[in-house]
Amino acid sequence: MANTKRFGVSIDEELLERFDKMIEDKSYDNRSEAIRDMIRDRLVEREWEEGEEVMGVVSLLYDHHERNLSNKLTHCQHNYHDLIVSTTHLHVDEDNCLELVAVQGKGQEVNEVADKLISMKGVIHGKLLATSTGAELI
Ligand code: NI
Repeated sequence: MANTKRFGVSIDEELLERFDKMIEDKSYDNRSEAIRDMIRDRLVEREWEEGEEVMGVVSLLYDHHERNLSNKLTHCQHNYHDLIVSTTHLHVDEDNCLELVAVQGKGQEVNEVADKLISMKGVIHGKLLATSTGAELI
């Protein structure tokens, strides 16, 4: 890594033990990568809070027999076509569909699209994964 800096951290022994146990459970090889990931995670949160360009993935699990729901979900995505990057539709079984909608825009806009889709009657489980364009991350 170019321009890598090292720094020392003073930390309570018990807190460090808990941290080490956690990162071992999460399969990290070392503390450095775990700490870098935690820092990036907070920076991504800040991107969302400060109105920067971000990306999100909305997952929507629903029963396609639910009256008119497929049409309503598609209609909503057309209303926000400037923000929708792609949509993947999986036919999970005879009843259920899983739709994955990739969204790019300001955090507030992405939240608005996600809320509209997830709150639709008949959506069994909906979730927004908040991530980044990566432009400001290393
Ligand atoms: Ni389907």
